[in-house]
Amino acid sequence: MPAKTVNDIVALCKRRGFIFTGSEIYGGLGGAYDYGPYGVELMKNIRNAWWNAMIYSRNDVEGLDAALISNRLLWKYSGHEAGFSDPLVECKKCGTRMRQDKMKDQTKCDNCGSTEITEPRAYQLMMGLSIGATADGAINAYLRPETATTTYTNFKNVLDAKPHKLPFGIAQIGKAFRNEISPRGFVFRMREFEQAELQYFVHPTQDEQYHKMWMETRLAWWVNELGIPAEKLRFMPHEKLAHYAKAAVDIEYEFPDGFDEVEGIHNRQDFDLGSHTKGQKEFEIHANVLENKDSTTKLSYSDPQTGENFIPYVIETAMGVNRAMLAVMLEAYTEEDLGDGKSRVVLKLKPKLAPVKAAVIPLARNVPELLEIATNIENDLRKLAIGRIELENSGNIGKNYRRHDEIGTPVCITVDHQTMEDKTVTLRHRDSMAQERIAIQDVPKRILEIVNG
Ligand code: GAP
Repeated sequence: MPAKTVNDIVALCKRRGFIFTGSEIYGGLGGAYDYGPYGVELMKNIRNAWWNAMIYSRNDVEGLDAALISNRLLWKYSGHEAGFSDPLVECKKCGTRMRQDKMKDQTKCDNCGSTEITEPRAYQLMMGLSIGATADGAINAYLRPETATTTYTNFKNVLDAKPHKLPFGIAQIGKAFRNEISPRGFVFRMREFEQAELQYFVHPTQDEQYHKMWMETRLAWWVNELGIPAEKLRFMPHEKLAHYAKAAVDIEYEFPDGFDEVEGIHNRQDFDLGSHTKGQKEFEIHANVLENKDSTTKLSYSDPQTGENFIPYVIETAMGVNRAMLAVMLEAYTEEDLGDGKSRVVLKLKPKLAPVKAAVIPLARNVPELLEIATNIENDLRKLAIGRIELENSGNIGKNYRRHDEIGTPVCITVDHQTMEDKTVTLRHRDSMAQERIAIQDVPKRILEIVNG
């Protein structure tokens, strides 16, 4: 079978309703994609796997869902307004605009090969907004380019609502927006994407220990929860550190074109809480609302036992959810030769991630007795609340199996004429294509075993 490529995934996503080009009927919009019926399910299941691991399985992390649009000052004091930019160059011959640090050869245009390239200039990545009735349309808000900053600005709110001793964390999953110069690689680099980020607040003397702990924890999650083989993942330390970072390591996945970043694990020190503490004080002085001189300690932490007051260090884990979905699909995508010139595409997803958990298929169409039994099984399975269950009533069993193989449904339940006689059905397993005959009354228990297995 030929090696799988991102294009195989693009074609499957369109054909089976995982991902569509954004604004497609009007020619599309670079770097924006719409998620279809099975894409939303897969994304939701990845999010749930992350939320379960980061929040429900622990007692030291709280959840948060902050606004996507925020006051310009947040992004001024976070350092993004001045510094969140990429080096943009332009080809003088063909006009192609490129991100200099991602060019194949920085002396030549990626498009036409010309060596006449402009000097780089800083290109602001944040999408500015002018919201409300501003007099001059000036930017007074931004779409957030990461979830992290909106977590730092809620540090005190969360801690006041739910007191914690250090170390503790705040986790968010949500959209982020960046005006990327060159979106690429399908959903790999987009202008609107989704992040799942944890900010873990630690005592400054314990930063290295927790950075290491989170590197190990996150790598294990990629293997155990997403089913990515360990040999397709690696750590890659950043060569150049961002101004706020003491250490930064990416988790990279081996895409068909080579290893690339899917998650970052950063030691951000006290940079963020520190700069927002400073920013808030400046704002209060400016706005004449400074009530007490203590306000420089607003985003600090007081140890209830020792009384020590300090700004915690932050260990951040920052995953791209869309990149995770792409890696999961690439890993699961399999083309199988079935002999006699037949083949199939099958998405060998972990059952927990599968968009549809089970399909119920009457063998023949328009046979009311078969449909009634199938509908009853469907309703019983829905009561399990394990996710999406589908009933197929086209009567074309081969076509139904093909469709469910391609969207990764772990098991199909076929209702046939024998069912009417002995109340048994056939379970057909996605990966092995093996079939087993079981009593209708045992179906829910068996499906639970398969989905949780
Ligand atoms: N708060 C830190 C932060 O935002 P980042 O490395 O810029 O760090 C974290 O982003 C993750 O978000 C990346 O590892 C990547 O998976 C994802 N990501 C970043 N930019 C993206 C884009 N334009 N499209 C899709 N995913 C992106």
